Amino acid sequence: MNLKDKYINFFVSKGHKQIPSAPVVPENDPSVLFNTAGMQPLIPYLMGEPHPYGKRLCDYQKCIRLTDLDSIGDKTHHTFFEMLGNWSLGDYFKKESIAYSFEFLTKVLQIPIEYLAITVYKGDEKIPRDEVSAQVWKELGIKEERIAYLDKEHNFWIPGSSGPCGGDTEIFYWRSSKSVPEVFDPEDEDWVEIWNNVFMEYYQEEDGSVHELTQKNVDTGMGLERVVAVLEHKEDNYLTSIWDEARTLLETISGKPYEGNEESMRIILDHIRTSVIIASDPAHIKPSNTDQGYILRRLIRRAIRHARKLGIDLNSNFEEQLARCFIKLYQEYYHEVKDNQEIVLNILKNEKEKFSKTLEKGLKIFEKISEQKEEIDGEMAFHLYDTFGFPIELTIEVAKEKGLNVDIKGFDEKFKEHQEKSRTASVGKFKGGLSGNSEIETKYHTATHLLNAALKKVLGSNVHQLGSNITEERLRFDFPCDHKLTEEEKKKVEDLVNEWIEKAIPVTHEVMEKEKAIASGAECMFIDKYPDMVTVYKIGDISMELCGGPHVNNTKEIGHFKIKKEEASSAGVRRIKAIIE
Ligand code: SER
Repeated sequence: MNLKDKYINFFVSKGHKQIPSAPVVPENDPSVLFNTAGMQPLIPYLMGEPHPYGKRLCDYQKCIRLTDLDSIGDKTHHTFFEMLGNWSLGDYFKKESIAYSFEFLTKVLQIPIEYLAITVYKGDEKIPRDEVSAQVWKELGIKEERIAYLDKEHNFWIPGSSGPCGGDTEIFYWRSSKSVPEVFDPEDEDWVEIWNNVFMEYYQEEDGSVHELTQKNVDTGMGLERVVAVLEHKEDNYLTSIWDEARTLLETISGKPYEGNEESMRIILDHIRTSVIIASDPAHIKPSNTDQGYILRRLIRRAIRHARKLGIDLNSNFEEQLARCFIKLYQEYYHEVKDNQEIVLNILKNEKEKFSKTLEKGLKIFEKISEQKEEIDGEMAFHLYDTFGFPIELTIEVAKEKGLNVDIKGFDEKFKEHQEKSRTASVGKFKGGLSGNSEIETKYHTATHLLNAALKKVLGSNVHQLGSNITEERLRFDFPCDHKLTEEEKKKVEDLVNEWIEKAIPVTHEVMEKEKAIASGAECMFIDKYPDMVTVYKIGDISMELCGGPHVNNTKEIGHFKIKKEEASSAGVRRIKAIIE
């Protein structure tokens, strides 16, 4: 049985419910590009909202971390990884959580206790030292000299700069053929962290102040690739069974051994795998020059450049072969990987074809410059970006290999100049000043606010927006609800929205202080994500929301509203797709 199944089985046997993995592109949090931890989709529940699956949860979650993008190529870093997690939402706390982790590691995975060491939070002026956790570990047989008390920098977990947080206890494993030292030295890199149990007791505000949460939670996270490496006694994560098939295939495709070509091979393997995950996500990300699309583009283009470096024929379907390996590996666990495989393969192929055309020419420029100069100036870096499709990060990487500097500041200036030009152009195109939003999208935007208000009236005030997406064809709206809407409920919602449209209600907006907006009852998804001054859109006394707009001036402009589909989006979350006619 593989690790994911063993983990889920174990926690299910301890009364946990398995929740499905959330999409890797967060649906309700515009402040981050990707889910970086298993707990991220659970934030509303960690803050007290009841979870439809109960108080004991477990899952495996697709995560992407970009902080380590430049480290890819070494033995241990990945952009995509899977995180195993278990949670107690106001149910058990430190004692049970630690006991479960210990039992899973030593009984199910049969890791000898001698190979384990622990860190606990040493406390600070606001939060006391975590004696309880240390005591539990000792009672389970961990020796005092294998427990280290560390500060906030190491043993405190918070998702970003604010949010539910708390001290944690981390479990380390001795990953070396050298004999295990008696005394645990957390600085010694042969001790690797494998599991993190966060005891979320607090909420930290943006200003750093901390208050206690009424509900005390446990949030644990275990990096799958790391644990597999530990269990398979591999010091190089890319030599584990996770990568065996793809790595061997890459050796065959390139006609080169892994040994001696590790860096390029790891980059190709990692980047193609992450691209498969991003491109198969329900968010339908395509390579582009902004946000997630830009990351996808960077990953594919960097993989292609390294494939060329290994001498792989870019006209072959090497990217497809590798992608198929990863599709096979993940499709059983993430159905979207299977459902969207054709989309994924097309994206990879198209992006490869696009970039292969300019890659050679771009690389020649580096050759020429390195013969004459020591630096790629801002103008040239921008030219490489704009004409030859080199993401700036790729330019920096190739330049480094050739011993060249890059004037990044100069590039940024050129980039801004260019953006300014295209912005002016687009304002010119949409004379009404609705840059980037067509008239129909604007109507959908206002209709979304009306739908939100109507759902509250029909289903109860706890309905709110968990996610929203607008195209020229439809709106999509996700909200918490524990049942499939009845025909009658759907009709009521539809009728209400149309009634409000017919009433020709003016839509007004006002810029005000965030605190004042919230105090006056304006709705928003994540209060901390907004700046101090916010725009509040009002539709008569029907709706008041923090929003960037744009909206129609009067509801009458919307037309006729119709719900096309109502379905489950994820556990306890329903999704409505609606059109205007
Ligand atoms: N949130 C913690 C982490 O990411 C535990 O899940 O490590």
